[in-house]
Amino acid sequence: MSILQVSALVAGYEPGLSIVKGASMHAAEAEIVVILGPNGAGKSSFIKAIAGLVPISGGQVLLDGRDITMVPAHLKIRQGLAFVPQTENIFPLMTVEENLHVAGGILPRPEVAPRIAEMFDTFPDLARQRALMAGSLSGGQRQMLAVARALIVRPRVLMLDEPSAGLSPKLVEQVFAQLSAIRQAGLTIVLVEQNARAALAIGDRAYVLVEGREAHEGPAKTLWDNPLIAELYLGHRKEAS
Ligand SMILES: Nc1ncnc2c1ncn2[C@@H]1O[C@H](COP(=O)(O)OP(=O)(O)O)[C@@H](O)[C@H]1O
Ligand SMILES: [Mg+2]
Repeated sequence: MSILQVSALVAGYEPGLSIVKGASMHAAEAEIVVILGPNGAGKSSFIKAIAGLVPISGGQVLLDGRDITMVPAHLKIRQGLAFVPQTENIFPLMTVEENLHVAGGILPRPEVAPRIAEMFDTFPDLARQRALMAGSLSGGQRQMLAVARALIVRPRVLMLDEPSAGLSPKLVEQVFAQLSAIRQAGLTIVLVEQNARAALAIGDRAYVLVEGREAHEGPAKTLWDNPLIAELYLGHRKEAS
């Protein structure tokens, strides 16, 4: 059964102007689902709507069978749906540890410190930099911190909007390796990406979103091998291999 089931979602920023136009997706437990698509296709709007940050005017979001379509964003996280936005996903003027402390604020108080310690076990780089201002971290470490902030409350589903944006190929590899490891631990991941190759390499299934609805769904590995999809939607030619 799907942990996350999104059906015919309609959402937009202004009344009567939908950006997400009936998009559907689902994700099973411990699955990595990749959402690709051209710029402006509505990928960010789609996951922001699922997270409760863009008004929904139609369709349904089920988390573990429960209807959370109209649940406000701050309560969706309490129900197990975490979202890492593309930008402004950390507090740059707080230390690494303070960032985790704030994010863990919805946990019962005695659980916060042990949970921060667990995050430092998972992300040793962050542990070493715990006392540094988050704004002074490298791009990759910032993304790790943003992910740790989301994970600290033990979500069932982690949605990320372009975590590789602005990172060097080496850092992309690190961040994605970390996401793979997190999935091994049983978490479901929904990954919106421009970096199709890296995302499809760690993904199980993928969707291509075009003009606010899904235009293709299939196994991640075969999507990369589909030259039509690559040329039409991903903006690159598949290299000879
Ligand atoms: N905050 C916003 N207010 C109004 N329109 C927006 C906002 N954010 C995005 N849009 C519009 O929604 C459409 C889809 O954008 P977006 O969801 O960011 O696509 P993608 O992430 O696939 O590039 C674009 O036409 C964009 O101009
Ligand atoms: Mg986007």
